[in-house]
Amino acid sequence: MSNATHGLELIGLTKILGGRVIIDNLNLTVEKGEMVSLLGPSGCGKTTTLRMIAGFLIPEKGTVNVAGKDVTNLGPEKRPSAMVFQNYALWPHMTVFKNVAYPLKIRKMGKAEIEKRVHEVLEVVNLMHHKDSRPGQISGGEQQRVALARALVQEPDILLLDEPLSNLDAKLRVKVREDIRDLQRRLGITTVIVTHDQDEALSISDRIAVMNEGRIEQFSTPQDLYDQPATEYVANFIGSLNRIEGGYADGQVIPGNEVVGIRPEDVSFSKSQVAGSYPATVELVVPRGHFHEVYLKRADASLRAFVSIDVPKAGDIGFAKVSKALVYKDGKLVRTA
Ligand SMILES: Nc1ncnc2c1ncn2[C@@H]1O[C@H](COP(=O)(O)OP(=O)(O)OP(=O)(O)O)[C@@H](O)[C@H]1O
Ligand SMILES: [Mg+2]
Repeated sequence: MSNATHGLELIGLTKILGGRVIIDNLNLTVEKGEMVSLLGPSGCGKTTTLRMIAGFLIPEKGTVNVAGKDVTNLGPEKRPSAMVFQNYALWPHMTVFKNVAYPLKIRKMGKAEIEKRVHEVLEVVNLMHHKDSRPGQISGGEQQRVALARALVQEPDILLLDEPLSNLDAKLRVKVREDIRDLQRRLGITTVIVTHDQDEALSISDRIAVMNEGRIEQFSTPQDLYDQPATEYVANFIGSLNRIEGGYADGQVIPGNEVVGIRPEDVSFSKSQVAGSYPATVELVVPRGHFHEVYLKRADASLRAFVSIDVPKAGDIGFAKVSKALVYKDGKLVRTA
């Protein structure tokens, strides 16, 4: 089962905490050099999963293989993994250099070798000029990079990041996530990043595991998750959705036990009728930066559309067309229409 070409394999992982099943028979395979996000709402078990990969928690059942090696019962310091914690966990009284050197020091590495490795990694994260500063003297983004350097200096087979960007403001978050992705690609390091921010997951991951209550709902590429969300849960979690229960017309009758999901990007409005469009009234238009959110009322349904050119006004009368619909039954995708 274990395959040396995989960066990480989780097989049938189960974790019970406080008498509850928190992780439920979870399976995940990450390829070498791949960047995978664990994405899901608060409390779905992302951190618990990451802690089992890192060795801070031991599963009740299941196996953790890193780079083809079974590490399930090894402590964190014996695993070829390094973790960056959400709050960075830097030592405030130590300089940047000493913070980064710490994991090597506790491994009793020689002084010259430590200095060489720390300098190299500080170059990589572009922080050499701050090597003698203390965490309190540098910015949040720089602290984040110190925490990253402290993980990278260990030259792990797998890098684990738990919401590493959540303490940064929106602008810096985008910049640092691009830096991390860039570095990850350059070093070719297998990486698992935890986030509850879909935008973040979509923009930096090779694949995303969408989690729900201790299980993985879908594991796929960002594009695939967006275009073919396998469950209603995933469709709602990734992107935005118009949800119409049974009876929806649009030229077809939808059975009562099916739900139609329509991406607002797949709804268009025009003043004149085109094939497949139906009469609609514009009820509300909300500017959203680079597009407008347009609320449309049709005889069969209320629909939200994202419009960026020829934006209508509230009260306009015209026609709305749906170019793609996702049809769910018992929460599972049965067809696209
Ligand atoms: N030591 C513990 N004892 C009991 N329950 C726990 C323990 N640790 C975590 N849990 C519970 O396990 C569930 C999953 O927690 P976890 O920290 O993995 O969630 P998460 O997906 O990382 O959420 P967040 O996005 O808020 O960080 C939560 O309901 C949490 O309360
Ligand atoms: Mg968490």
